[in-house]
Amino acid sequence: MQKRKLGKDGLEVSALGLGCMGMSHGYGPASDKKEMISLIHNAVDRGITFFDTAEVYGPYINEELVGEALAPYKEKVSIATKFGIQMKNFKQVLDSKPEQIRLSVEGSLKRLQIDTIDLYYQHRVDPNVPIEEVAGVMQDLIKEGKIKHWGLSEAGVQTIRRAHKVQPLTAVQSEYSMMWRAPEEELLPTLEELGIGFVPFSPLGKGFLTGNVAKDATFGSDDFRSVVPRFTPENIEANQVLVHLVQKIAAEKGTTMAQIALAWVLYQKEWIVPIPGTRKLERLEENIGAADVVLTLEEMNRLNDALAKIVISGERYPKDYADRVGK
Ligand SMILES: NC(=O)c1ccc[n+]([C@@H]2O[C@H](COP(=O)([O-])OP(=O)(O)OC[C@H]3O[C@@H](n4cnc5c(N)ncnc54)[C@H](OP(=O)(O)O)[C@@H]3O)[C@@H](O)[C@H]2O)c1
Repeated sequence: MQKRKLGKDGLEVSALGLGCMGMSHGYGPASDKKEMISLIHNAVDRGITFFDTAEVYGPYINEELVGEALAPYKEKVSIATKFGIQMKNFKQVLDSKPEQIRLSVEGSLKRLQIDTIDLYYQHRVDPNVPIEEVAGVMQDLIKEGKIKHWGLSEAGVQTIRRAHKVQPLTAVQSEYSMMWRAPEEELLPTLEELGIGFVPFSPLGKGFLTGNVAKDATFGSDDFRSVVPRFTPENIEANQVLVHLVQKIAAEKGTTMAQIALAWVLYQKEWIVPIPGTRKLERLEENIGAADVVLTLEEMNRLNDALAKIVISGERYPKDYADRVGK
């Protein structure tokens, strides 16, 4: 698989990474560990060198899974993880106090079975801790060799600028797909100006863009989509217009819908590395195939013209989650 560079300080990874969250968290019950380890090994064999996890996924079991799976491949892969969200009384609480970050980094290193974290993101901006203070801790962790690079997730552009001044950021991770294009307004131009890489999460629209979310789909309480407005039956129905568009382009191109969704993201900038998530080998292979799908400028223009006419129904987050992004 082709490689892409994130940021200006030498992080080079496969053009597509693998999002590992769904293997333990957010999409129903945790999957069988042995099967997921085998899936991650298959990803390495097929050229993926970039793996995404977080302390809060599980919590903890996703980092443990990724650490165990990648232990034999430490030298050839890059692992990204995240700090800043703690579970307290079954609720997510933002906490990026320096003493908590210190505890988090030690825990992540242990669970991931590594001596240094390749890319360490603040998962959400903590309104109670100035970003300069967080960036200062990152600077210290880089000096101590505990992390190599750092990044922010779902941060606003002013926070990104302030953080980058103290300790240059390598990447920002935020949602981006044909379904959620808000990053094009301010975020992507800012990252381009500052030379920071972009790692889009949910590039398949949490599965919606693959055409595999049935109109009458229901989600269990352990599936995050059960609380996402976009996934109510009415909004799934209203957004079928997008499914039909992707379906049409995929049929014309002789690819799958997932491949069109990923190729569209990859096309945007050469410093973008999407991290689709899957728990199935055949889907992993399909998604990897997207790296070889070349959309022409004419095809992109046609797709974008059609996308511009589609209004997506339903918010991407429930209110309490929406309040934490873009800060
Ligand atoms: N920074 C953040 O706040 C944040 C938030 C969310 C996610 N993330 C990261 O981003 C990664 C990816 O995001 P995501 O998992 O939310 O969304 P996604 O990659 O857009 O979609 C994942 C969903 O699509 C399905 N899927 C994957 N490939 C498919 C294919 N070829 N055909 C049909 N269905 C397919 C998966 O089901 P199966 O698993 O059953 O294949 C799963 O339900 C996560 O793993 C996580 O590491 C970060």
